[in-house]
Amino acid sequence: MWRTFAAISLAMVLGSAAPAFAQEPCKPGELVINFSHVVQSTVDPKGDFATMLAERVNTEMDGKACMQVFPYSQLFDDDQVMEAMLMGDMEIAAPSLSKLEAYTHRYRVFDLPFLFEDIDAVDRFTQSEKGQELLQAMSDEYGVVGLGYLYEGLKHLSAGRPLVVPSDANRLKFPVQNSDVSVAMIEAMGASAQKLEFREVYGALQIGVVDGQENSYSNILTSRFFEVQDGVTETNHQLLAYVVFAHQVWLDSLDADVREQFLTIFNETLQEANAQAAKTNEENRQRLIDVGYAVRELTPEQRAKWVDLMRPVWRKFEEEIGVDLIEAAEAANQSKPD
Ligand code: SIN
Repeated sequence: MWRTFAAISLAMVLGSAAPAFAQEPCKPGELVINFSHVVQSTVDPKGDFATMLAERVNTEMDGKACMQVFPYSQLFDDDQVMEAMLMGDMEIAAPSLSKLEAYTHRYRVFDLPFLFEDIDAVDRFTQSEKGQELLQAMSDEYGVVGLGYLYEGLKHLSAGRPLVVPSDANRLKFPVQNSDVSVAMIEAMGASAQKLEFREVYGALQIGVVDGQENSYSNILTSRFFEVQDGVTETNHQLLAYVVFAHQVWLDSLDADVREQFLTIFNETLQEANAQAAKTNEENRQRLIDVGYAVRELTPEQRAKWVDLMRPVWRKFEEEIGVDLIEAAEAANQSKPD
């Protein structure tokens, strides 16, 4: 009976599998700001950020500007959205940093397994000089500017069987984002990797094209991976984060007062979203447990086996990423406030 109640309350939180996303049309004369992403529009750090940003723009800039959000890959996948931005067909995008391989390898630092101890360390790194420089890794060559980092959370591994030590993943197949670091990580486990678009993962799990997956609690919940897997191992192995991008040409084309007001709203909303991302993930972890999804924690000894196995993956990519960035990330782990 409790499972029924839990399932009903979850259905209320998530809505139907592909809810229609109603939004007011923009008014004539308003600057239209489109924002395309691939996740659900609520109960998820990125979805919440896009929704909060659109609400503020549409209220506070009414008559001047209007934001339209396209969630669930309704309009574009992450690789297509960057192409659309480069063509001037999309104003705001926040692809996962693992999906920028075609443009730069500098963001691979965020994919290095077990590099960051927690989200606070990530935050210290992104606020550091190196982290801020990295926001503009694509600006010289492509003209897109990083307006800020958005955090989703740390990722966890799941498969049709418990993954307690890395060898439990031997010969399994996992979907990965478009990241060679993730491929190397999965191969280090004796498993194989298949690059898939986010919207393809649920179906691939359902029909057994892949045996497991790796994602944040929020994405496991809102994309319903819990329906096609019995549980997850809390590996905290990799970061899922985004840079929110806009094109410099578009920003320069705005009236100065409109640009200033938009960027002020943007920065305030981003701060608010990042401050609540950890809480959202924690709530979503509990929602998964409430519907009977197993969350398997690792002992420190078990986790140490995963970390040891992944160190060579860092070495493989350190030259391309830049030792400077890896050192700055490691320093962020050490510089905890007292
Ligand atoms: C996202 O959170 O934007 C998608 C992550 C994924 O592709 O796994």
